[in-house]
Amino acid sequence: MHIDIITCVPQLLESPFQHSILKRAQTKGLAKVVVHDLRSYATDKHHKVDDYAFGGEAGMVMMIEPIANCINQLKNERVYDEVIYLTPDGESYNQKIANQLSLKTNLLLLCGHYKGVDERVREHFITREISVGDYVLSGGELAAAVLADSIIRLLPGVLSDETSALTDSFQDNLLAPPVYTRPANYNGWQVPDILLSGDHDAITDWRFEQSLARTRARRPDLLK
Ligand code: ADE
Repeated sequence: MHIDIITCVPQLLESPFQHSILKRAQTKGLAKVVVHDLRSYATDKHHKVDDYAFGGEAGMVMMIEPIANCINQLKNERVYDEVIYLTPDGESYNQKIANQLSLKTNLLLLCGHYKGVDERVREHFITREISVGDYVLSGGELAAAVLADSIIRLLPGVLSDETSALTDSFQDNLLAPPVYTRPANYNGWQVPDILLSGDHDAITDWRFEQSLARTRARRPDLLK
């Protein structure tokens, strides 16, 4: 899996891919994330990537030329399965979309800033528009990091326990059951006996019931 991310604030994406699971995925050669600084594709000497909106609307708009230059250059290097624009008015992101995207080979993510990108970018380059929630971030960078993280952890071989992504919350539309570790008794707060029983079938049944009860209580919409 190859993920290119285009941003005018590359510093915001320096850390997320350099630690823990995402770092290991890249070290193992299972994923590669490359961050591209949009300013280096600007055509003027000030590396300008935004301009005033036509029609007198307040706020700046990201210009089409640097974005087009960058996307066209990247498209010469590989064929993208999706060119995704992160935007609060996109389709709502969820585990199902993460699962779909994890089956792709090359993804290109474009981070918006200011008032957003010139609409012609969306019309002519973007194949999918995604929002990570009904709230507005300062830019698409954190949303791009959310996508990349949720996709990369699903790639075969990335998680050490292959089954653990399958038992995540939202797989099968159920929230994950509670988990415990040692000590079995902390100041009188006991781990449920069933988990210490060694009866694997009974534990599997208990986990499923807990998932169902938790989903019913917290996210009944998932059960519909
Ligand atoms: N950019 C700003 N807010 C966003 C959101 N909620 N989702 C995706 N991209 C965004």
